[in-house]
Amino acid sequence: MWTRKSLQELMTEKLANHLFMVVSNREPYIHTFVGEEIKCVVPASGLTVALDPVMRACGGTWIAHGAGDADRDVVDSASRVKVPPEDPSYYLKRVWLSKEEENGYYYGFANQALWPLCHVSYTRPEFQESQWNTYKRVNALFAKSVLEEVGDRNAFVFVQDYHLALLPRILREANPNIITAQFWHIPWPNPEAFRISPWQEEILDGLLGNDLLGFHIRYHCNNFLDTVDRAIEARIDRDRYEVTRKGVTTRVHPFPISVDFEAISGETDSKEVLVEIDRLKHQWRLEDCLLGLGLDRIDYTKGIPERLKALDRFLEKNPEYRERLVFVQAGVPSRVHIDSYKILNEEINNLVEEINWKYESDHWKPIIYAREHLAPETLAALRRMTNFCIVSSLHDGMNLVAKEFVAGRNDEDGVLILSPFTGAARELTDALLVNPYAIDHFAEAIKTALEMPKEERQRRMRRMRTVVQENNIYKWAADIITELAKFEFGQ
Ligand code: G6P
Repeated sequence: MWTRKSLQELMTEKLANHLFMVVSNREPYIHTFVGEEIKCVVPASGLTVALDPVMRACGGTWIAHGAGDADRDVVDSASRVKVPPEDPSYYLKRVWLSKEEENGYYYGFANQALWPLCHVSYTRPEFQESQWNTYKRVNALFAKSVLEEVGDRNAFVFVQDYHLALLPRILREANPNIITAQFWHIPWPNPEAFRISPWQEEILDGLLGNDLLGFHIRYHCNNFLDTVDRAIEARIDRDRYEVTRKGVTTRVHPFPISVDFEAISGETDSKEVLVEIDRLKHQWRLEDCLLGLGLDRIDYTKGIPERLKALDRFLEKNPEYRERLVFVQAGVPSRVHIDSYKILNEEINNLVEEINWKYESDHWKPIIYAREHLAPETLAALRRMTNFCIVSSLHDGMNLVAKEFVAGRNDEDGVLILSPFTGAARELTDALLVNPYAIDHFAEAIKTALEMPKEERQRRMRRMRTVVQENNIYKWAADIITELAKFEFGQ
């Protein structure tokens, strides 16, 4: 079983002479003003949830966009601050972007072109040349920051996600000694879907500057190889899962990401969480209720309207559950300047309003919508209290909410209703798998979850916990680092 300590040992053994760097768009800690005071906030992002424990274990430098309004107030002259605030163990080095750069690169090409392009959830990607140009410019800015930090040292640079597809090729050309890996946190679609991108060659060429390229599941690796095969000149070795282009060989492997199981499981019994459970029961009048839970970033890939419609159908068909079931949908607003997100927010608000109006009585309403950033102890309390948790993504690379829910249930109870279109569904086969587009089946699954005998709930939860415990975030990082270290020795 991989632990924080064994990962540290592996790092010392394999990477002792190297600087270890992570590069991502989203930063793991955001400093922001609350009145006069500076607060440090942890963003809602699967990527940062997964990588923060790895960086705590490995040390090194994490380069990311400084997006908080107080971010500049806490850094040194090299734009660095040590984090986490309560236990400083690695450097966060911030890259500063202008409003115009953030607009074209993050709100623009990354989230209006690449995000919908890679998720098959029927939101049309938008391709704008000016946004693409800004994306290229910002990738070069990140590269500059990496190269400055590396200097003439040996370095492993671990790039994250679709915001930085061009970075590895720039690094390779500027400093061929850097060993580079990239993890693509979202799905990779099939070549028919990907080929509508007017810049598919450049994106693929950028990614093929990496020594190692990781996806959550083998299916996405295969899609990537097929896309390369159709789109550009490169030699593909399907047995070894390698692509060679311009003299560089890139290994393409699956690494299913995960969570810090022990930390999440352990915090569930903390005093703060128990106090929070009491507070929530009182505040939301949940004492004698059955509880359902959804925890998401508000994103059109998460299937939130589908889930609300399924709840509606469930209450319609099963009136005996009215006044007994409360569904808490906690959601963090996300990418709110993009039209498709504005439309989604509106749709969710309307659905919550309509469903509550349809069923509510004097002292009960079926849906509590907490559209806000909740504290970690509140999230832990909700996971622990609920009878079932719904993860209904229309398409999702992995989905760590599902794994966090399982890790948080050290009472070995609770049912996970999970979309088969998530990477997590490949591992969590003891969840109730349901197609979120099939509203009637979905409503049936809610009934099944509520009526499942305790023994069966426990049997399923125990098995899922074993899977997440064994395949935890330290194993994910250790597998990648072991693979990366091979490049140093030319294996
Ligand atoms: C997904 C992406 C991450 C991203 C996260 C939150 O998990 O793969 O790269 O950080 O969503 O989205 P945001 O746009 O707020 O960073």
